[in-house]
Amino acid sequence: MYTINEHYLKLQGSYLFSTIAKKVADYQQSHPEARIIRLGIGDVTRPLVPAIIEALHKAVEEMGTAEDFHGYGPEQGYAFLRECIARHDYLSRGCAVSAEEIFVSDGAKQDVGNIQEIFGLNNKVAVCDPVYPVYVDTNVMAGRTGAFSEKNGGYEGLIYLKCREENGFAPELPEERPDLIYLCFPNNPTGMTITKEDLQKWVDYANAQGSVILYDAAYEAYITEEGIPHSIYECEGAKRCAIEFHSFSKNAGFTGLRLGYTVVPRELVCNGVSPHELWNRRHGTKYNGAPYIVQRAGEAVYSKEGQAQLKEQVAYYMENARLIREGLKEAGFTVYGGVNAPYIWLKVPSGRSSWEFFDDLLEKVQVVGTPGTGFGQAGEGYFRLTAFGTRENTLKALERIRGLKAGD
Ligand code: MLT
Repeated sequence: MYTINEHYLKLQGSYLFSTIAKKVADYQQSHPEARIIRLGIGDVTRPLVPAIIEALHKAVEEMGTAEDFHGYGPEQGYAFLRECIARHDYLSRGCAVSAEEIFVSDGAKQDVGNIQEIFGLNNKVAVCDPVYPVYVDTNVMAGRTGAFSEKNGGYEGLIYLKCREENGFAPELPEERPDLIYLCFPNNPTGMTITKEDLQKWVDYANAQGSVILYDAAYEAYITEEGIPHSIYECEGAKRCAIEFHSFSKNAGFTGLRLGYTVVPRELVCNGVSPHELWNRRHGTKYNGAPYIVQRAGEAVYSKEGQAQLKEQVAYYMENARLIREGLKEAGFTVYGGVNAPYIWLKVPSGRSSWEFFDDLLEKVQVVGTPGTGFGQAGEGYFRLTAFGTRENTLKALERIRGLKAGD
C-alpha cells in the first residue's frame, strides 16, 4: 500500500480562512435573509484601476496577433516587469536590488509557502505569534515540526515569538537560536509595524547567528508614517541574510489576477551555496512563469497614471481603517493597527474568547471578522477586521458592532 505524507496529519483543522468561509456559508444557508458583511479575509473590493485595465486590454489584443503572441515566458518573469520593480521598489529607495535578483510569480502566498523547500529539514524555524498561518502550516507539511500541543498552543519544535500588547506586538530576539525567521511588517494580523532601528537589530542578529530572515512585505504600500521600512533591504547587511516577498494583491487589487515577486539576493550564501541558484532551479522546474497579460498589468502598476490611481485606492482603504479604528475606540474598544496597515486588531470585550466574539458578531449583527486565535495562541482575546471592505459596508459594520457593544 502506498503511504501518505504523515506530516499533513499534524495540521490543525482546515486552513483558517476556509474554516471561516464554511461557518459563514452555513450561517447564510440557515438564515437566507441575513445581510452579512464580510470583513474577515483581507480581500480587496475596489475594481482594478483604469491604467491596469488598459494594460490588460492591450496585452489581450497582442495575444490575438501572430506577431505579438506570447507563449511560455521566462520562468523568472519578463525583464520589462523585473526592471520596473527594481527601479521603483528598490533603487528609488536606495536599496541595491537588481532586476536579476527578482523572481516574479503568481502571488506571495505561494512563494512564502514554497521558500522553505530550499532549506534543510533540520532547520529550526521561528515565527511570530500571532502569525499568518501559511508560514507555520507549510513547515508542518514539510516535517520541520513535531505534533501540535494543546497544552503549549503550538507545534513542538517551532520557536514562537510572542507579540503582545506589552511589547507593542513586536517580536523580541529569541533565547533559542533559529535558522529560519519569518517576519511580516506591516504585520498581518496585528496591523502593527516595526521601526527601521528595530528591524536593523533583527538583521544584525541574523547575520551574527547565521540565520535567514524570510521577510513578508505584502502590506508595505499602507505605510503612512516616517521611519518605517518599506523593505528589509533598507537595513545595512540585509542582502546577506534576508529574502523578501511582495504581493500585488493589496497595493494594486490583484487578489483575483494573481501576481507577486520574491527577492533572493546574490549576496545571500549558505556554506558556499547560493539560495538564489536553488530558488532559480526550483522556479525553472516547477513553474512556467506568471501570465504575460498579468505581467503587463503589473508593469502598469508602476506607470505614472497607475501610481496616481493606486495612491487613491490605498487612501480609500486607509480611510476605512481610520473610520474603524476611531469608531471602535469611541465605542470603548481597545484597538491596535490600522495606521500603517489595512488591519485593525481589537481586544475582545468582556473576557470572551476570539471565537465566541466571532460567533456573536456573526449571529447577532451579521458581521464577519477573523478570530485572533486563528493566528496562534497569542491571538486569543483579539479579533481582526480588515479595511478592504467598501465604504458603505465598513460604515454599516461599524454601526452594527457599536450597537452590539452598547448592548453588552
Ligand atoms: C489575510 O486575510 O490574512 C490575507 O488576505 C490572506 C492572504 O493574503 O493570503
